[in-house]
Amino acid sequence: MASLLIIFAILIFLLHFQHSSSFSLSVEKHEEDIIISPKGTFTAGFYPVGENAYSFAIWFTQKHKNLANATVVWMANRDQPVNGKCSRLSLLKTGNLVLTDAGHFDVWSTNTNSSKPLELILYDTGNLVLREHNKIGFVLWQSFDFPTDTLLPDQSFTRHMKLVSSKSGNKYSSGFYKLFFDNDNLLRLLYDGPQVSSIYWPSPWLVSWDASRSSNNSSRVAKLDVLGNFSSSDDFTLKTSDYGTVLQRRLTLDFDGNVRAYSRKHGQEKWLISGQFHQQPLKIHGICGPNSYSINNPKTGRKCVCLPGYNRINNQDWSQGCKPSFQLSCNNKTESKTRFQRLPHVDFYGYDYLHQANFTYKQCKQFCLRMCECIAFQYRLVNDEGVFYCYPKSQLRNGFSSPNFQGSIYLRLPKREHVSVHANVIKNGSLVCSRNDGVEQLKKSYVEDKENGSVKIILWFASGLGVIEALCFFMIWFFLFKNSEHFVIDNQGYVLAGATGFQKFTYSELKQATKCFSQEIGKGAGGTVYKGLLSDNRVVAIKRLHEANKEESEFLAELSVIGRLNHMNLIGMWGYCAEGKHRLLVFEYMEKGSLTDNLSSNALNWGKRYKIALGTAKCLAYLHEECLEWILHCDIKPQNILIDSNYQPKVADFGLSKLVQRNNFDNSSFSRMRGTRGYMGPEWIFNLPITSKVDVYSYGVVLLEMITGKSAMTGILITDGEKTHNESLVTWVREKRRNLSEMKSLVEQIVDPTLGSNYDMVKLETLTMVALKCVEEEKDMRPNMSEVVEMLQTHEHDSS
Ligand SMILES: *[C@@H]1O[C@H](CO)[C@@H](O)[C@H](O)[C@H]1NC(C)=O
Ligand SMILES: *[C@@H]1O[C@H](CO)[C@@H](O)[C@H](O)[C@H]1NC(C)=O
Ligand SMILES: *[C@@H]1O[C@H](CO)[C@@H](O)[C@H](O)[C@H]1NC(C)=O
Ligand SMILES: *[C@@H]1O[C@H](CO)[C@@H](O)[C@H](O)[C@H]1NC(C)=O
Ligand SMILES: *[C@@H]1O[C@H](CO)[C@@H](O)[C@H](O)[C@H]1NC(C)=O
Ligand SMILES: *[C@@H]1O[C@H](CO)[C@@H](O)[C@H](O)[C@H]1NC(C)=O
Ligand SMILES: *[C@@H]1O[C@H](CO)[C@@H](O)[C@H](O)[C@H]1NC(C)=O
Ligand SMILES: *[C@@H]1O[C@H](CO)[C@@H](O)[C@H](O)[C@H]1NC(C)=O
Repeated sequence: MASLLIIFAILIFLLHFQHSSSFSLSVEKHEEDIIISPKGTFTAGFYPVGENAYSFAIWFTQKHKNLANATVVWMANRDQPVNGKCSRLSLLKTGNLVLTDAGHFDVWSTNTNSSKPLELILYDTGNLVLREHNKIGFVLWQSFDFPTDTLLPDQSFTRHMKLVSSKSGNKYSSGFYKLFFDNDNLLRLLYDGPQVSSIYWPSPWLVSWDASRSSNNSSRVAKLDVLGNFSSSDDFTLKTSDYGTVLQRRLTLDFDGNVRAYSRKHGQEKWLISGQFHQQPLKIHGICGPNSYSINNPKTGRKCVCLPGYNRINNQDWSQGCKPSFQLSCNNKTESKTRFQRLPHVDFYGYDYLHQANFTYKQCKQFCLRMCECIAFQYRLVNDEGVFYCYPKSQLRNGFSSPNFQGSIYLRLPKREHVSVHANVIKNGSLVCSRNDGVEQLKKSYVEDKENGSVKIILWFASGLGVIEALCFFMIWFFLFKNSEHFVIDNQGYVLAGATGFQKFTYSELKQATKCFSQEIGKGAGGTVYKGLLSDNRVVAIKRLHEANKEESEFLAELSVIGRLNHMNLIGMWGYCAEGKHRLLVFEYMEKGSLTDNLSSNALNWGKRYKIALGTAKCLAYLHEECLEWILHCDIKPQNILIDSNYQPKVADFGLSKLVQRNNFDNSSFSRMRGTRGYMGPEWIFNLPITSKVDVYSYGVVLLEMITGKSAMTGILITDGEKTHNESLVTWVREKRRNLSEMKSLVEQIVDPTLGSNYDMVKLETLTMVALKCVEEEKDMRPNMSEVVEMLQTHEHDSS
């Protein structure tokens, strides 16, 4: 530590020259005209911030020349970049350090004066210091006193300073978020937007001691130490997750409004997040503009969603929010013209007419109806008090949706308006990111509503004209999310699909693994399956889903269900890819192919067929009865039963599977027919309730196929005199049985002739008996899968 403080002068410019400026750095030579700290940790110089635009900045020195992704820790002129021609930073004889744009305008200066020889030094702490030559203690100016969005270890953050976020991940200009010491000595985060501003950290409704802060130390100073402890005079401390090690560290107010501690080992490129101020990023104000709210999906990140009946104002800038697609004026906001749509787990902070305790829902609704400006109300149970609170709202800002929030917003809508909450969430969640780096400036006027005389509007922040830049707020944010291990489980209780142990592949990896999807090995209802070779030499089957328009969140939800399933007769899933429109699943590869392939190639003797029948039954019994959720496969057929090298079956393809909560069987959720012709139970055809017995029926058909060697898909051609007609396998077997009395002679009639007469009669009789029970028309006559397993197991080791 002490060594860090030893000062190395790299560039010493003494005021002994004849010129008016003692030294200068030129933007044209920005690659050579740089200042490097003694140990090389930091570099100062002209940093490109856009097309022909430069800011004088300090950044962590990088190995490669490309500055585009350097970690900038300070900027002199973040809001006023200089031209790439003739701009320079000069230390004048008067002692002033000045940045001139295109040789003419001073855009920034240290406002220092001195008649003594001066030197400009970049310390290894990242502090750029202007001081008298060889006078260590005499600092005229230092960058540590004027932080931008980042604090470095041992940099004091004091009452005179504030951190201001950047506009976005790739725009360095000042954004809307600020960290500062408030008048009551508390360190706070403020959203200072073009229209409104509000404190969001610590939670604004908490008094200092409830937020574990003390307001009676007026020294107002905070500091991050080299070991990773950030502490402030108001008793706020943040101990980083890697506290105790000397690492490169920084504390940055990110463009999404959260302060994060980052750390990395020396020489490494990637920063890890080791702590953050705001524990619930969804609740950060201003991220989603008015009439929209943020939702979090662990994998896709944070999104802004318009309220039902509202449309996004600017698809490239979520912070502008949404506007109503309907019109309600004071005279038609009556009960007969409006209705309230409930949005559970959604909250909007602020802009309440009142906080009314112990109100019934009806009272709350009536209150809102009477208020012309009331566009929604929040109604929730406050647990500590055991009473319901009513919060009628005049504006809907700072919205978020979280399963942990136990209240609802009731949104006022015209009675006619038909709006689906879901359609809105799915369709307009995504943000169109503008690749255009040019700064688009929009003039936006804010017209204040006429105030209703009888109502005092609390928290009404009026403001005049504002200028909003079109931003891509979230791109880098997503990037951080994806790369940071520390965000795997966020505090809302979401668990990433990653927790299920799947590997996430990129599309290009899988494209390469399948040699551009050249070797097709199967086609299912949901997609096409290709053989692939991963870079670690594992052979895999890669299923590319056709329904690529499926929302990533929905896709991941299904994955997490599959991830919890684990049975030796269930195909193993190794990974997935969800990138843009692409949805792919990576499975273990079965060398021997499917049951269909094996039946047609005559590779299966009776022993193997019995083993496959039993294994498949066990797997289905597991799915139906042992899993936490009750899972129907709904597409049991030989193509979906794969065979491993030991002739064990592995049930594959959950493309059509439907999860059904036990005791909560909602038949209406099966809106369309599922399954494959020939294997579908009569319930599908007659529109009867769908239960696990549909899988039992399909399983019975598969057994019949294994016994007879005939395909259920094509059916059986019957020649009846001159006429021929096609009969289903099930009908064919049933008819055979009707004309016979004994099971034994039935077996002889239907058995697969290609296997000769060398069969185990007991086993075959069992199989046939089970198969016929499974394909009973009446679902209650069919056994369940565990009964099937039992019946098959009884004769597993028999032989005649
Ligand atoms: C930074 O950019 C260089 C060159 O484009 C690239 O090789 C490197 O991987 C990038 N680093 C990060 C952390 O993005
Ligand atoms: C610098 O300027 C200020 C006023 O602008 C003056 O009071 C001060 O004496 C000057 N210092 C030096 C060293 O010239
Ligand atoms: C400091 O503030 C706390 C409340 O935050 C109060 O209880 C305490 O008495 C104060 N101490 C002093 C010395 O003022
Ligand atoms: C962090 O620093 C504060 C103030 O110096 C101190 O009270 C606290 O104990 C430190 N925390 C750790 C973990 O060292
Ligand atoms: C106030 O905070 C500063 C910095 O954390 C600390 O050095 C000082 O002792 C505190 N003063 C009191 C009275 O607690
Ligand atoms: C309410 O009134 C406004 C104008 O007064 C009209 O434009 C709007 O269509 C009406 N809305 C309904 C739902 O009647
Ligand atoms: C709530 O209001 C009802 C009557 O409206 C009253 O009986 C009850 O005591 C109130 N509860 C509380 C907790 O104030
Ligand atoms: C989503 O936004 C687009 C573009 O603003 C709009 O055309 C579309 O109607 C919106 N969809 C919904 C469901 O609001």
